[in-house]
Amino acid sequence: MAFLIGIDLGTSGTKTVLFDETGRVIASSTVEYPMYQPKNGYAEQDPADWVNAAKTSVRAVMAKSGVKKEDVRGIGISGQMHGLVMLDKDNHVLRRSIIWCDQRTAAEVEEMNRIAGRDKLVEITANPALTGWTAAKILWVRNNEPQIFERVAHILLPKDYLRFILTQEYATEVSDASGMQLLDVPNRCWSDELLTAFGIDKAWLGKVYESCEVTGELTKEMADELGLCAGTIVVGGAGDNAAAAIGTGVVTDGKAFTTIGTSGVVFAHTSSISIDKPGRVHTCCAAVPGAWHVMGVTQGAGLSLKWFRDQFCDSEKVAAALMGVDPYYLMDKAALESPIGANKLLYLPYLMGERTPHLDPDARGVFFGLSGMHTRRDMLRAVMEGVTFSLRDCVEVFREMGVNVSDMMACGGGGSSPVWRQMLADLYACPVKTVDSKEGPALGVAILAAVGAGLYASVPEACGAIVHTANVQEPVAENIPEYEKYYRMYRSIYPALKDRFAALAAL
Ligand code: XUL
Repeated sequence: MAFLIGIDLGTSGTKTVLFDETGRVIASSTVEYPMYQPKNGYAEQDPADWVNAAKTSVRAVMAKSGVKKEDVRGIGISGQMHGLVMLDKDNHVLRRSIIWCDQRTAAEVEEMNRIAGRDKLVEITANPALTGWTAAKILWVRNNEPQIFERVAHILLPKDYLRFILTQEYATEVSDASGMQLLDVPNRCWSDELLTAFGIDKAWLGKVYESCEVTGELTKEMADELGLCAGTIVVGGAGDNAAAAIGTGVVTDGKAFTTIGTSGVVFAHTSSISIDKPGRVHTCCAAVPGAWHVMGVTQGAGLSLKWFRDQFCDSEKVAAALMGVDPYYLMDKAALESPIGANKLLYLPYLMGERTPHLDPDARGVFFGLSGMHTRRDMLRAVMEGVTFSLRDCVEVFREMGVNVSDMMACGGGGSSPVWRQMLADLYACPVKTVDSKEGPALGVAILAAVGAGLYASVPEACGAIVHTANVQEPVAENIPEYEKYYRMYRSIYPALKDRFAALAAL
């Protein structure tokens, strides 16, 4: 039997899973790390934390499983997208990584539009200039930290920095590179035109691969440290969303998934490129060679619930520890004690600004309609509903673009909550399915590694053999019009506050 390792370098932690060639989980290990927010709207992480977490979790799965290292046939890496890792000529990290949800680059986005032109940017990168994406961050460092910028020799995405540590190769792959805003997305290669316009040296960037291609091999030093064989292949892997698509079998037209992790994403596969000119949803290369995907992003999805848990749910945390369950399990139950609409309380999940559909880094979270009768349970339900409303916004944009979604999967931490899945089914008015594996991105990149190792001929063939649908949650007919009333109210709140958010940011 052959085995594969999937490493998912997430925002709250890195999860490593060892799978057998049929996709069965043999062992899994997660190591968490902090996110630093030195200022309102800033978000940074220490690349050393990612590397330590990956090493610790790989060693842990190998030790737990008893699998022989010779039988591990490949490694795939998935990760949070858009983060900026800068290295000097000796490969030392030059500053903390500015990660995907950081919103400091409004001025650089304007600069990009001025230099390259908004239409040209959309034509080449399939997306308008975006505050959270890597190019704007590179320009921010150039504009604000020139002493660091002058020492830059390599620029990598979070998972590609880990690849460098494992293989000593500077490489990336098309799905994650799409989120740097330096890739020619229709042609799947770096854009010389944009690199020249922005003054970014192509030699700083990694070589671009398709996601299932072999990008390098584990070095002897790393293999010894991790308990693996030198020469074990490392494939391109994918950005976390493109990886989750593979892990949930979203590899043909009509298939889509919703994931509620720190961010929330609605993602649809498309075999021909489709671009939303206003840029409300992103178009990127898929991890399936020759295909693309569109995705809408809610910045503060699981992040909203985690924030609520950490600020207001100490009692659930204590009870959960005594009962040996996850606090989110008890929070799910508490949310059910409040009715649809949370007794007329609405929540806007814009803790870290918002992308789909507003593209507004200044937007912030709101509870709307608070009254003396509301309880913590209403607030909790309002948070879960508000995140679901914002995911529905993404589906509305797909509908406008004519992207067909006939088959919706749910994944990510939030996707494992039956309460949240029911909200999704009721608000999308369509069945929401799950797959029998909970390992979305880690499974996705293990599948890519299986293809890279030659165990399967293509990504769709591997998905057909490995990914199986588990349960289906049907919408409840009478809930649909109830939610619709609150969704319409939700849609009207942001336009009323838009200029107040800008004014607050300017204070
Ligand atoms: C996608 C995005 C997030 C991150 C973090 O554009 O920013 O989904 O990949 O998970």
